[in-house]
Amino acid sequence: MIAKDSGPGRARVVVIATGKGGAGKTTAAACLAVYWARRKRKVALVDADPNQTLARWHARGDVLKELPLTAEHSSDAVLPAIEALAAQGGVVVVDCAGFTSQAMLFAIGVADLVLIPAMTDEANIFEAARTMKLVQNAATLTRRQIEARVLLCRVKRSAVATHAREQMSVLGLPVMMAQLGDRVAFQEASFFGTAPSVLQPLGAASRDITQVGEELDGLLWPRPALRGKGT
Ligand SMILES: Nc1ncnc2c1ncn2[C@@H]1O[C@H](COP(=O)(O)OP(=O)(O)OP(=O)(O)O)[C@@H](O)[C@H]1O
Ligand SMILES: [Mg+2]
Repeated sequence: MIAKDSGPGRARVVVIATGKGGAGKTTAAACLAVYWARRKRKVALVDADPNQTLARWHARGDVLKELPLTAEHSSDAVLPAIEALAAQGGVVVVDCAGFTSQAMLFAIGVADLVLIPAMTDEANIFEAARTMKLVQNAATLTRRQIEARVLLCRVKRSAVATHAREQMSVLGLPVMMAQLGDRVAFQEASFFGTAPSVLQPLGAASRDITQVGEELDGLLWPRPALRGKGT
């Protein structure tokens, strides 16, 4: 169960993090933000990467531009920035840098869900496992459970994805069922400040994001268990 300690009205904080550069963090952050905004959720973005890739994507206009973005990567300021946005409700999407930093650790410390993008190679899986250790340490520090899921990104062949899933299962990593294929539409979207769901609503990239978003919805806003008849 996620977000047990979220107060009523507090946002779900989704932190997208891995120590591996180029795994697909910013792409997932931008596309999921658009996914939730189009489902009428209040969405705020935090770019916690000094490279400011998400902030540039955002500045290009179109749908992403309509969402508030705070660019804050200093370890002193990132936590107050996330907390101020979280108090306003909805969902706060935090895009972290592609290396382990104090800012990343602080963000993970207040996350309702840590999403760990990983491509289907050994180095990405190794780094996903390290990021998961960081999540576990943050959970110990904050004395609460912090949910985390690995998201397979840029999947080229299903056979490789299957092998990657087996490897992660051996390492005890929780992996999302949904995954993002290696699709040009994700790269195109970054040029236009938008997402595949806007550029090509019926395309494969749009479908991928919808599946990832729906799986995350089930984790972030779980439905109350149905009661049996007569209970
Ligand atoms: N599913 C995908 N299909 C095709 N290209 C992708 C996909 N996801 C990401 N890319 C491309 O891979 C590159 C790296 O992606 P992205 O910037 O999202 O990764 P990142 O983890 O945020 O990187 P960094 O660590 O540098 O911040 C970009 O050129 C992006 O367009
Ligand atoms: Mg990035």
